[in-house]
Amino acid sequence: MITSDTTATALLSAEYAISTERISAADAAMTRHSVRSYLDIPVSDDELHSLLALTSRAPSAFNLQPWRFIVVRDQAVKDALKDAAYGQKQVGQAPVVIALYADMDDTLANLSEVVHTDLTPEKRASTIAMLEKNFGGMTPEARANWANGQTNIALGYLLLIAKAEGFDTSPMLGFESDRVKAILGIPATATITAIVALGRGADDGFRSHRHAVERTTTFR
Ligand SMILES: Cc1cc2nc3c(=O)[nH]c(=O)nc-3n(C[C@H](O)[C@H](O)[C@H](O)COP(=O)(O)O)c2cc1C
Repeated sequence: MITSDTTATALLSAEYAISTERISAADAAMTRHSVRSYLDIPVSDDELHSLLALTSRAPSAFNLQPWRFIVVRDQAVKDALKDAAYGQKQVGQAPVVIALYADMDDTLANLSEVVHTDLTPEKRASTIAMLEKNFGGMTPEARANWANGQTNIALGYLLLIAKAEGFDTSPMLGFESDRVKAILGIPATATITAIVALGRGADDGFRSHRHAVERTTTFR
């Protein structure tokens, strides 16, 4: 039983690297902004692993988890990505750039990895057959769009978790997809959902406005 905040933090630390700067999900949602200027402070392997482990907790339909990540820290690769991203300076400046892409070919070729291991062999086989039929009947473009939608859930998780763990981010769709695929060796059939610059911000970004709940929501 968790008896104090200190004990809770110790328990969590045993499971994944914990940031001493952690804030709540609500505070992260309220304070996260796109930051386009970064300090030259590296992000450690443990921190990155932790961020991606938490991001991978995102839900997806059929639990297919079609997202894939490429973590870029090499300056020459970041510089090439910056060129492919219309010169956006945060791509070359941030200590880390993460490319999130959706890969349905890899997902469908490895369905046994995503079907729950607690199922009986018969149920596993029938679930795999159902998924093969369902997605096999879609056009490659429809499959790619579907997987891109799922990977956007992981993108949202990553942005929020990064802030909660003390990091700033800049999500981007402003890049030439074919060039980024060539630089990173991403399969031609995959869809790049976003690239994300990540690190410690050199400024706070700016407070962009958001619609009020009343503008976006109908209560019935
Ligand atoms: C999927 C996605 C793609 C984006 N692409 C770019 C981009 O290429 N360049 C950029 O400067 N900002 C980009 N943004 C940032 C948005 O402009 C920004 O999130 C929005 O204005 C809200 O501001 P905030 O992130 O500071 O809260 C992107 C954001 C998202 C979610």
